Amino acid sequence: MIIMSTQEERQHIIDVFHRRYATKKFNLNKKISDPDWQTIIEAGRLSPSSFGYEPWKFLLIENPKIKEDLKKICWGAVNSLNGASHFVIILARKNVTITSPHVEHMVEDVMGVNFDIHSPRSEKFKSFQENDFDLNNDRALFDWASKQTYIPLTNMMTVAAELGIDICPIEGFNRAKVDKYLADKGIIDPDKFGVSVMLGLGYRDQEQPKKTRQPLEEVLEVIK
Ligand SMILES: Cc1cc2nc3c(=O)[nH]c(=O)nc-3n(C[C@H](O)[C@H](O)[C@H](O)COP(=O)(O)O)c2cc1C
Repeated sequence: MIIMSTQEERQHIIDVFHRRYATKKFNLNKKISDPDWQTIIEAGRLSPSSFGYEPWKFLLIENPKIKEDLKKICWGAVNSLNGASHFVIILARKNVTITSPHVEHMVEDVMGVNFDIHSPRSEKFKSFQENDFDLNNDRALFDWASKQTYIPLTNMMTVAAELGIDICPIEGFNRAKVDKYLADKGIIDPDKFGVSVMLGLGYRDQEQPKKTRQPLEEVLEVIK
């Protein structure tokens, strides 16, 4: 276990964040190695989620025809679809509630605990969704799941950056059209999943633009 404590190690972290940028032009000929890809997707898989219910699925799109079709409905993904080594669509699971089979599956099969809809944990989850977070319609539930998909998205971006791999996060697509396309192809069951966000990964083939951010004092307020 490395304890990140020296100034050099701290600076390394910040350097990685400065080097990462939303890559617009990828090198078509440079592919991510399998061990690097496995590390990136493992960071996605190990990401935390609310109550541990992992309301996501990752699609690694390798099919050239599907990539071509997606360019027509994913304006913000064209650069990635043209040159990125790997292209990932992150799906958010729909209707994750205490009565959904997914929650029972997670509790029984993944966490290895007997599922009981009236257990204190189940009641807590129900109350959290219905009262605390007002997740009382399909859209609210989908958006809650989508928010969580940005955790694996972020972990994958950061791990890629640490490995010297470039990325582009992507929301530039027509969600209804991509959902329908994937459903028509039989890739997703639209009752269970919808598209949340996408990610292109590969190697840059351009100079990095200047990084612009609000100064710390504009985004951090210390409440004493
Ligand atoms: C959630 C999200 C969605 C984004 N969607 C797109 C996109 O569709 N296409 C694109 O080229 N860049 C996209 N970006 C990249 C942003 O424009 C970029 O991250 C931002 O301008 C900051 O620049 P930097 O990442 O290069 O530091 C997206 C970024 C995020 C975080």
